Amino acid sequence: MEPRPSVLFVCLGNICRSPLAEAAFRRRAAEAGLCADADSAGTADYHVGSPPDERSIAEAARHGIDIANYKGRQVLMRDFMRFTHILALDHSNLENLQRLAPPDATARVGLLMDAVPGREGAAVADPYYGGEENFRDTWEDVDMAAKALVERFTDRA
Ligand code: 4NP
Repeated sequence: MEPRPSVLFVCLGNICRSPLAEAAFRRRAAEAGLCADADSAGTADYHVGSPPDERSIAEAARHGIDIANYKGRQVLMRDFMRFTHILALDHSNLENLQRLAPPDATARVGLLMDAVPGREGAAVADPYYGGEENFRDTWEDVDMAAKALVERFTDRA
């Protein structure tokens, strides 16, 4: 039997995109009655211990989700054994994860948008230097992926 899914969402800073991916996945899993674990992390250490970007907090709040208590953290070596899936928000973070992965890694490392039929190979664009509309686009992408992931995990059960 496949283990209970546990998914780590990874972007660069862990303050814009991956907290939204985590929040969307938690919501979609709860709605589907799927027991799954979720967390998020950054490949960089710039924002360790910080709350998400206020624009991500606002975007989550628009969907009725409070992420103000999330705390930024960096990817750890033990994450590669702790999670069943580690999903990168874009290609440069995917490459960094593949470079970091220890030989005894058990997590499947992949690109988040590969979960969405028709969006395989796509990146979730970094909204950090953008505006509110870019954070809306981020939500659309990560929520689409969250929905597809939950469907995948519930179908195989
Ligand atoms: P994220 O966005 O990777 O989606 O959290 C960024 C956050 C911070 C920086 C870049 C991207 N930064 O350069 O500090």
